[in-house]
Amino acid sequence: MGKLTAPAIAAHKTRDGKEPLVMVTAYDAPGARMASEAGADLILVGDSLAMVVLGYDDTLQVTTDDMCHHTAAVARAKPDCHIVGDMPWMSYHVSPQETVENAAKLMRAGAHSVKLEGGRKRLPMIEQIIDAEIPVMGHIGLTPQSIHAMGGFKVQGKQAEHARKLVQAAKSLAHAGCFAVVLEGVPVRVAEMVTEAVDIPTIGIGAGSHCDGQVLVYHDLLGIEDRFVPKFVRRYADIKGQSVEAIKAYAADVRSGSFPNHDESYHMADEEAEELHLYGAG
Ligand code: KIV
Repeated sequence: MGKLTAPAIAAHKTRDGKEPLVMVTAYDAPGARMASEAGADLILVGDSLAMVVLGYDDTLQVTTDDMCHHTAAVARAKPDCHIVGDMPWMSYHVSPQETVENAAKLMRAGAHSVKLEGGRKRLPMIEQIIDAEIPVMGHIGLTPQSIHAMGGFKVQGKQAEHARKLVQAAKSLAHAGCFAVVLEGVPVRVAEMVTEAVDIPTIGIGAGSHCDGQVLVYHDLLGIEDRFVPKFVRRYADIKGQSVEAIKAYAADVRSGSFPNHDESYHMADEEAEELHLYGAG
């Protein structure tokens, strides 16, 4: 499909007969190259970085500098994908000026757009970013930056009243000019209602099959992260298992002396070796 721009993504609805958008997270150059070669439409440099790469227990620990560092690594791979830089917690909560400056840092690091979490409450900041010509992707439902306020990683919108609020939130994000919205951890019926209600694409994660696209975390879909597998994850590989086996085989070869072998070593000409031997190494 080629690299999609934010306006092209904004017009991408499956109800118009388009294929669902494919988004995957990546945090470094090799991951970006793999996503690109696999034909992903969008790469999200997600703040899930905190949990799947940096070893934190939640996403609240990463900063704009961390996100820029990893966005730049992804961008250097020049993937044939639209790169979305995730705005971390507290990078868009304090003031409009700081918000726009933080979004600009992600763009200068190589993102083509930014994503931030939250509904109506975030509209003033979203409007400021869009006003600075930076495309914004919304993110509603289970928003991991709000885990303490939500009381944990819990499916959102299970009650009719809350579901209606999510539909309203999506509409207001679309009205403010967001080019797409991530729906995370919501019942299928709610995702379907939101997708019908807005003209921008919905990209689901734990939101069923009615969205205009799907996103999964790289480490989940490849089986690199195996400590907790959420219900909505489909694992397409067991990279952790294969890697552990490969490192075990390497360790066994080192310990038995079979690695490195003759072909895996550098050699000098026989006469040089002889001279070295005659005069001693010193
Ligand atoms: O940070 C992330 O990976 C995300 C996705 C789960 C949508 O925000």
